[in-house]
Amino acid sequence: MKNIAQNAPLLPYNTFHMDVKAAVFAEYENVDELREILNDPAVAALMQAEKAKGRLPFWHIGSGSNLLFTGDYPGVVLHCKSTGIRVVPTEGTESSDEGEDEGVCLLEVEAGTVWDDVCAYCVENGLYGPENLSLIPGETGAAAVQNIGAYGVEISNLVEKVICWDVEADKEHIFDGTEMGYGYRESRLKHEADKARYVVIRVVLRVQRKPRLHLEYEGIQKALGINLEADPEAVEKLSLQEVRNAVIRIREGKLPDPKDVGNAGSFFKNPVVENAVFDKLQTQYPNMPHYVVDKGHTKIPAGWMIEQCGWKGKSLGRAGVYEKQSLVLVNRGGAEPQEIVRLCRTIIEDVEKKFGIRIEPEVNLIG
Ligand code: EPU
Repeated sequence: MKNIAQNAPLLPYNTFHMDVKAAVFAEYENVDELREILNDPAVAALMQAEKAKGRLPFWHIGSGSNLLFTGDYPGVVLHCKSTGIRVVPTEGTESSDEGEDEGVCLLEVEAGTVWDDVCAYCVENGLYGPENLSLIPGETGAAAVQNIGAYGVEISNLVEKVICWDVEADKEHIFDGTEMGYGYRESRLKHEADKARYVVIRVVLRVQRKPRLHLEYEGIQKALGINLEADPEAVEKLSLQEVRNAVIRIREGKLPDPKDVGNAGSFFKNPVVENAVFDKLQTQYPNMPHYVVDKGHTKIPAGWMIEQCGWKGKSLGRAGVYEKQSLVLVNRGGAEPQEIVRLCRTIIEDVEKKFGIRIEPEVNLIG
């Protein structure tokens, strides 16, 4: 059933544990209810007023695990409550409930489905693809917008289609994965023109029945107790469940559980710089970790730079930098949104002063 609340607390809807309110908070279970919400006179009037101020007509959240409300939200916050995973039938064989094509299986996932439930489902059913993305907090719709990624895999590698509701045209619109404008933590649905227009209702994922593991990230091999360079055959003995368990162990070892400590995962993106910039820095910091992006660009871990600036484990008011991973900002308890914002700004300035690189938030700052 749909739910429209005015002056609604957002505390249960953001993992940073910000005690703020939304002028309107509305949840729906299906497209009909979404349309009813959008056509509700009070909701429609507020969306119109927000638009007139040059702001987004609504902000759609998943489980609020990659955002920071910077204060009370004066507009409409939407949330999808629809969950479920279903195998897409193979074309031409409507009686079959198996979407197979040389080992490919298509899964249609409702936007409100907890992402890790998708990972668990795949592992239980012998479907390869999402296992490295295990335990990433959030819901599937938001995961596809955000292009979540970890340990060498991004959801964009798996997205076949994103099925949206086009709010302006009042009809369904389907984006192919190739039309999504995917990049590192980037998609077209993160940008205003599309964000104001499309609401993700389902995501179709392309997963594989044939074994294909991604174990290049050295931390995974370490957690699995293997070294593929020395023993390339070790991969054949591994189960999907073992890989999922290894990813879960790594994440639990480095990242705070939002149930205990308010946070939104990596607060900043890892900057991608021109090789000339990287080469100059490397002469100064020969041990700087880095990843090759393409021929001309290198990615530098922002967490390493933040640690070099002396921020690891430190606090500013009730906002802090996590002890085990400097890329994660935490709410030490009762922090106001502006305390997190102040810490964010101070870190950006300090990193720029030391390294000449301006890092950017990865979380959405919403106010
Ligand atoms: N590092 C430090 N000090 C720190 C943190 C990191 O020196 O305080 C160094 C590490 O030793 C390592 C490098 O920086 O050499 C990279 O660290 P890590 O492997 O922990 O990953 P990350 O680059 O900090 C990214 C993603 C994570 C994802 C991991 C693993 C972004 C913004 N973050 O973090 O995603 O889990 O890689 O693939 O790209 C998230 O988006 O919320 C998230 C957790």
